Amino acid sequence: MTDLKKKIFDRREFIKLSAAAGTGILLSPYIKTSGQESSVTNDINIALLGTGAQGQVLLSAILKIPNIKFKAVCDIWTDYNQLRAHRLLQKYGHELNAYVDYKEMLAKEKDLDAVIVATPDFWHAQHAVDCMEAGLHVYCEKEMSNTLEGARRIVRAAKRTGRLVQIGHQRRSNPYYLHSYNNIINNSDILGRITTVNGQWNRSVQPDNGWPKGKEIPLRILQRYGFENMNQFRNWRWYKNLGGGPIVDLGSHQIDIYNWFLNSSPKSVMASGGTDYYDKATHEWYDTVLATYKYDTPQGTVRAFYQTITTNSNQGYFESFMGDQGSLVISESAGRAGIYKEPNAPSWDKWIEKGVLESPSEPAPTKTTALLDVRETVAPPKHSLPITFNDPYHQPHLENFFNAIRGKEKLNCPVEVGYESAVTVLKVNEAVKAQREIAFNPSDFAI
Ligand SMILES: NC(=O)c1ccc[n+]([C@@H]2O[C@H](COP(=O)([O-])OP(=O)(O)OC[C@H]3O[C@@H](n4cnc5c(N)ncnc54)[C@H](O)[C@@H]3O)[C@@H](O)[C@H]2O)c1
Repeated sequence: MTDLKKKIFDRREFIKLSAAAGTGILLSPYIKTSGQESSVTNDINIALLGTGAQGQVLLSAILKIPNIKFKAVCDIWTDYNQLRAHRLLQKYGHELNAYVDYKEMLAKEKDLDAVIVATPDFWHAQHAVDCMEAGLHVYCEKEMSNTLEGARRIVRAAKRTGRLVQIGHQRRSNPYYLHSYNNIINNSDILGRITTVNGQWNRSVQPDNGWPKGKEIPLRILQRYGFENMNQFRNWRWYKNLGGGPIVDLGSHQIDIYNWFLNSSPKSVMASGGTDYYDKATHEWYDTVLATYKYDTPQGTVRAFYQTITTNSNQGYFESFMGDQGSLVISESAGRAGIYKEPNAPSWDKWIEKGVLESPSEPAPTKTTALLDVRETVAPPKHSLPITFNDPYHQPHLENFFNAIRGKEKLNCPVEVGYESAVTVLKVNEAVKAQREIAFNPSDFAI
């Protein structure tokens, strides 16, 4: 056995075996007592690669999960993001090292099981592949890459190395979404035949990201890691070689749900978009995109619209699945989820009794105009979902990743699923450029 394979076997089998040894173990928190390591045997050792905005969101969620030990953080912004994460983790009792370069981290940290990758999109492929080659499992933030070639490299490396890769589409582990998929979408008695999907992520005008004075990264370091200057480093999402613009950054979350809930990938997409508002020199990617997909599902054609605009936040972000008997509106934004019955659809009482839906918020209002005897369209009452979920949004997805490493669960967003979403989303930018409907070939989704 090579050293690498031996290391993989030792840590991975050890974690799986110890996890199987007792179900109570999972619930025990990682408690460090006077110089002693926790005696809990199914600890997972991780590094956080990229400690920016999202890295810190993930870090906070992971701190709530028992038995996860941070061994390292890595970030090129040493005296700001890296320092902040390092100090916070030390405060919580983690004994860890800090690195600028991930290759040095991979060479020196011999006890890692997994790496959480939260660097800008254009780095994901290189980071994920090198971590897997070093024998580590990877939680890779979405979008798994800003290019299809990058996304393919991740899938190929996962197959080659046998490592687990969870793509950070965290809605796939969110209890609202899981309940909706398992009990509403997969129950044709409730929504009827889904014909249309509508979704959006709208944001107000935002200034470019700045940085604290005196905390600039030296230019030679920035350029070594692919950034031209501080402004580009802080606003990488808008640049063609670094990110994918709002449709990829925001749309990937929700268009991933289209594929999931329709149990299908689209046949074609048409899209309109452009940099209509911001300065094109610093906003290379489109600030406004309106896209329509066509899906052929076993129930028939579904047209799925998605828009992302960055100049007005009206209605925020949600996805809506519309059938001939009802609509499901769902969002990561807590409390937004609800189901609305079409006026002529059969009663939903049995689903309320079974606990799939809650009773309507108020009696259905109906109004008839005597002269024409035509029912006016009125908003139907909302049925809420019987779900309470107050944890950080990313926690269940991270827990699913760690439990998959322990051999106790299957990944909710494995690399093949993330790849299908990447293909679906990246095609929108192509369609905007082509100014016509673009067909997906089945081979687009194959690797
Ligand atoms: N799942 C979600 O809800 C969600 C939300 C926001 C962002 N994200 C994703 O998280 C990732 C990070 O986004 P962000 O908003 O935190 O960006 P950010 O710019 O705030 O943070 C990126 C960090 O990576 C560091 N970095 C850049 N290149 C590096 C390299 N080569 N090696 C080490 N460190 C490097 C930067 O110094 C910075 O601290 C992106 O892929 C983004 O799409 C996901």
